Amino acid sequence: MGSGIAEVAAASGHQVVLRSRSQQAAEAVLAGLEKSLAKQVEKGKRPAEEAAAVRERVTATTHLGELVDADLVLESVVEDLAAKKDLFAELDSNCKPDTILATNTSTLAVVEMAMSTGRPDQVCGIHFFNPAPAMALVEVVRPITASDDTVATAVSFAAACGKEPVEVKDQAGFIVNALLFPYLNNAVRMLEQGVATKEGIDAAMKGGCGFPMGPFALLDLVGLDTSLAILNALYDEYRDPNYAAVPLLRRLVSSGQLGRKTKKGFYDYDR
Ligand SMILES: NC(=O)c1ccc[n+]([C@@H]2O[C@H](COP(=O)([O-])OP(=O)(O)OC[C@H]3O[C@@H](n4cnc5c(N)ncnc54)[C@H](O)[C@@H]3O)[C@@H](O)[C@H]2O)c1
Repeated sequence: MGSGIAEVAAASGHQVVLRSRSQQAAEAVLAGLEKSLAKQVEKGKRPAEEAAAVRERVTATTHLGELVDADLVLESVVEDLAAKKDLFAELDSNCKPDTILATNTSTLAVVEMAMSTGRPDQVCGIHFFNPAPAMALVEVVRPITASDDTVATAVSFAAACGKEPVEVKDQAGFIVNALLFPYLNNAVRMLEQGVATKEGIDAAMKGGCGFPMGPFALLDLVGLDTSLAILNALYDEYRDPNYAAVPLLRRLVSSGQLGRKTKKGFYDYDR
């Protein structure tokens, strides 16, 4: 998600500093961005000079200290509350006092991240969807600690990125994932019960509901590890059995079959 968000922000004229933990990861993200821009030029979606200007606006670093002057920092690390809380504490000590710190979390409690900083009023959620350059929605998540100014800045940023911001309370899953994940989880249950094949279920939901992709193609796109983390956070919050991850999903994650990112999930992607 990080590289897609960097592309969206740079394409809408923002200067972007992309921070990864290793130089290799930072270079891989820049290579991904260059590939995406080259494809857009090739398809005639963006003139070459414009693509070059977008690329110019992005720099990559491994040092959190280089974010010191950022007006807004948006983290998109693994969906794990402990990792995010540690990162927010580090960002708090590395960024200037008026920097707004935001999270791209899909489900986790934003207030927990806010309280890891000395500036809880300047922390909110800015939740992009996958793939960020293509999806119109951004959920702006308001923890009870956030100031109106922080939320207004997040809404303006999302709009400046050409997205449609929708404000939502800091409850697990916000709007989209709270409604989407019972459906995805129940699709896995249906497969596990042998009601139909994965191809059949995907075809049914595309053809019968007009969805652009079926549940298994979507789970593979989101990442099965991220999907499991989302379901676990939803179950923790609501104790609703529809959010209790189905064993098949857990087994796929345990076996390292995480979807597109590992080239194998419900489907294979190396052919
Ligand atoms: N996958 C989706 O469809 C989707 C959509 C919207 C939001 N999100 C959210 O975006 C975030 C990232 O999800 P993703 O799907 O891109 O995950 P991913 O597993 O593809 O990428 C996570 C990245 O975070 C890095 N990372 C892990 N721990 C870190 C740390 N402590 N510091 C810095 N980097 C660290 C990993 O090396 C990896 O590159 C999550 O919060 C997720 O909920 C995901």
